[in-house]
Amino acid sequence: MSDSITILGLESSCDDTAAAVVRHSAENGTEILSSEVFEQYDLHADFGGVVPEIAARAHAERLDICVENALDKAGLKLAEVDAISVTSGPGLIGGVLSGVMCAKGLSVGAGKPLISVNHLAGHALTPRMTDGIAFPYLMLLISGGHCQFLIVHSADEYTRLGGTIDDSPGEAFDKTAKLLGLGYPGGPLVQEKAAQGDVKRFKFPRPLLDRAGCDMSFSGLKTALRRARDQIVEEKGGLTVTDQADLCAGFQDAVAAVLTEKTRRACLAFMEQTDTKTPVLAVAGGVAANIQIRAALQDLCAEQGFSFLAPPLKYCTDNAAMIAWVGVEKYRAGAFSDISLNARPRWPLDQSAAPMLGSGKKGAKA
Ligand code: KG4
Ligand code: ZN
Repeated sequence: MSDSITILGLESSCDDTAAAVVRHSAENGTEILSSEVFEQYDLHADFGGVVPEIAARAHAERLDICVENALDKAGLKLAEVDAISVTSGPGLIGGVLSGVMCAKGLSVGAGKPLISVNHLAGHALTPRMTDGIAFPYLMLLISGGHCQFLIVHSADEYTRLGGTIDDSPGEAFDKTAKLLGLGYPGGPLVQEKAAQGDVKRFKFPRPLLDRAGCDMSFSGLKTALRRARDQIVEEKGGLTVTDQADLCAGFQDAVAAVLTEKTRRACLAFMEQTDTKTPVLAVAGGVAANIQIRAALQDLCAEQGFSFLAPPLKYCTDNAAMIAWVGVEKYRAGAFSDISLNARPRWPLDQSAAPMLGSGKKGAKA
């Protein structure tokens, strides 16, 4: 008998409406049959960040068509999937609710089991979907809504080694871009400017490097950047293209330095807490696309004897294939939900870790 499982996944916890179909079998491994993402950048660009109410409304309007597209591209009817998995937290509650309501409707309508997925588990388990890696491994999640180090022991067991105590690095990139008038989302624009800048002109702080452990802070960096900007404006009446580039280079260098040093500590903690002979560091989140950060992490891994794994960017950033994949893992474990499933704005993966104050203001409260 075939052990093939086909899952329809839904994601709407931040500013991307997404639906995907993923199939897994012993014979063919993992097949991502479709992965549809409707971005909302245009809706939030004027605000320089995600507006929760606008996001929730857009999800509600787009989810059904997104699901239809995902099924069409997979060449399947809803009746042909085995279950529906949906992000039920953490995230912006209006958006999460839109997804949960849609998934419940599909589940009841088609008579298919419902699977509740933690958005962070989606990111954390992506390397298993894309590269089939074995547990345990070290995960660094760096995006607009999340920033944390996790030891991934199994699909439902995680140790959180540390994370941001205020802004995520993605928020810091976005705010930097806003302060310098570059546009949104800020990451790629700051990176582009930084490539032309003089990294030595501004020496920005490296927050929390003096504190033991893997916690990070990025909000002070933003304040330092604002001060440097204001000083130039006061002296010269405005910023030149060179000023912008130098500020971006200094900022990006500081983020890369903090992430690298904290990752070094996470690697050591991982080796202490597991008995792995072939350690892997996997990254996820939009900030993992940053060329300087990626190169620094790659060098660090080489030095620490870790393999470095960065899944393709479309599966690193928010998508529904990762939610469908967690659906596969939970389906095999028999972990189903029912119609009473609730959306959870906060839902840490490691329930035993102390909550992080104010972490991930843009989306994930975990
Ligand atoms: O993972 P993601 O697409 O969405 C969530 O936040 O969940 O990450 C988006 C974030 C944004 O803050 C964006 O500015 C940042 O990732 N980003 C980057 C780069 N590309 C995207 N940050 C730095 N460098 C980049 N190349
Ligand atoms: Zn995410």
